[in-house]
Amino acid sequence: MPKITINNTDTGETTVFKAGYGANLRQAAVFNDVELYKGMHKYLNCRGMGACGSCLIEVEPMENVDPQTFIERLHKLAPNQKLGCRAKVYGDISVKAALKD
Ligand code: FES
Repeated sequence: MPKITINNTDTGETTVFKAGYGANLRQAAVFNDVELYKGMHKYLNCRGMGACGSCLIEVEPMENVDPQTFIERLHKLAPNQKLGCRAKVYGDISVKAALKD
């Protein structure tokens, strides 16, 4: 099971949990009560539809998640970024979350 380390850049809190191979990162974070969002985005987001961009994360290493999707390319993400709701986890990763103001 991949180990996911999430650093919330808003609160400085770091959380570690495990998820199943190929798990959706946003769903796994919600299940483990880990916050990916910043400020009002905690309440005002698209609930994982890939539309709002508020679940923006930075992932290390990118080899352990799926490639950027068409929707993520529309959001013009940097090469080390994903949307939490579009990220499938295939290995241990470190994530910087709560990036979107
Ligand atoms: S929750 Fe809106 S894009 Fe991910």
